[in-house]
Amino acid sequence: MDNMQELRERTNPVFNTAKATLLQLAQAGHADAAMMAEKLGLDLAGMTYSDERKKAMGQSNVATLELRYRSMNAFIQATGAKTVVDLPCGYTPRALEDFIADKRYIACDLPAVAEEMGPLVDKMLAERGQKRDVTYHGVDATNYASLRAALEGAQGPLCITTEGLLMYFTDPELAALLDNIRRILEEFGGVWITQDPEVSRVYISMTMVVMNDPAKAKAAVDALGRSANMSAVLKAMAGDKAQSTLNASKSTFSGEADVKFGNVMLIRGAPEQAFAAAKDALRAHGLKAELTPVAERMPKLGSLDPERTELARQAMEHISLWTITPDGDAVPLADAGGDAFGVSIKARGGVMDVTLRGRVDSITAPEFLAAYEKAARAMDLTDVHVDMSALAYISSAGLRVLLMMIKAVQPGHVALSGVNETVRDILTQTGYADMVTMA
Ligand SMILES: C[S@@+](CC[C@H](N)C(=O)[O-])C[C@H]1O[C@@H](n2cnc3c(N)ncnc32)[C@H](O)[C@@H]1O
Repeated sequence: MDNMQELRERTNPVFNTAKATLLQLAQAGHADAAMMAEKLGLDLAGMTYSDERKKAMGQSNVATLELRYRSMNAFIQATGAKTVVDLPCGYTPRALEDFIADKRYIACDLPAVAEEMGPLVDKMLAERGQKRDVTYHGVDATNYASLRAALEGAQGPLCITTEGLLMYFTDPELAALLDNIRRILEEFGGVWITQDPEVSRVYISMTMVVMNDPAKAKAAVDALGRSANMSAVLKAMAGDKAQSTLNASKSTFSGEADVKFGNVMLIRGAPEQAFAAAKDALRAHGLKAELTPVAERMPKLGSLDPERTELARQAMEHISLWTITPDGDAVPLADAGGDAFGVSIKARGGVMDVTLRGRVDSITAPEFLAAYEKAARAMDLTDVHVDMSALAYISSAGLRVLLMMIKAVQPGHVALSGVNETVRDILTQTGYADMVTMA
């Protein structure tokens, strides 16, 4: 692994979870996914399971991801948009799908993913003698400038598709993403589609469909229709064992969670309030959502037999695709982005004085980490002072570097000054405010 790749992985370990999707699509019988996994050197054999519980969990993950990927393909086509912005594209084989052939496909993900996927897809298309309008771009979804650069020369209306991103975002990251989406849709037109807000509802229903015998699964799916609180239904139908399996299944997707994940767009707990809170959040950022049952575009699944596919379809009557567009009535927020990043570090004895400027996000955090480690190597570190008066924003990638500083010194020896309101909120919501002192 080269140095930059390593720095990126340490500041944002989440991108490795995307390789799991590719393996799961391969497992579901998607031939291009299998070929791509092989070319990436991923090990399908590594997906055999050590016990029955893990096997069941594996099957429900495969079915869940296959359902999401294939139904999103159908929903993308239904928008009729000629330009598809896949944010984040991960390692899926979407660029190779037939329906992409007459579209412009703008694949966006963290730089590490885009740099691996771009050349691979070019090579695969060349091997097939296919010419397609497909490009890969390194972005951070919270960084407007990076997204806008990926869209240079694009023609609207756009279909921006998001699968497997919102669950990794904290509220401040979500807020930045929503502002960026609104700005882009206002400029280009089009829609943003996602199933992410209901991810835990999808996992719960698919776990019930896959893990129970068909009669029990049918009863569970019927109960889902009556009761909106899916966690309660799961517990009533399947007891604690299913809950622990579900938790294990979810944790395979949560990456290394050293910051508190979770945000207001994710539907959890009492659904009525959760849906209202998510819609309020969208409205606060000048967006509105229309909800369509996923069952309306139920794909054929390689991972489930016809009986279970039908049960999954019935469960998907209660899960929605969110189609999000600018809300004409809402008051747009102030321009959130664009501040250039900078870091400077000085040593005074054992004290490290760090000054941060602009935005620390997945694109800039590797530079922050490199600067910190270089300085730390040359001194006997006891205290860290971080001047944040010119810092506009810090994402979880930047917080990971802060965590390394916190771990490197005695408790209470990382002091922050000049913290603005946005950054203060981020530190409070992620629990970091308790680990540092703030002037
Ligand atoms: C679970 S994967 C989903 C990818 C793909 N859509 C799929 O279904 O497999 C999560 C993806 O989000 C990307 N990601 C994480 N944080 C991001 C950010 N701030 N901006 C853009 N992409 C990000 C990761 O690199 C990873 O590829």
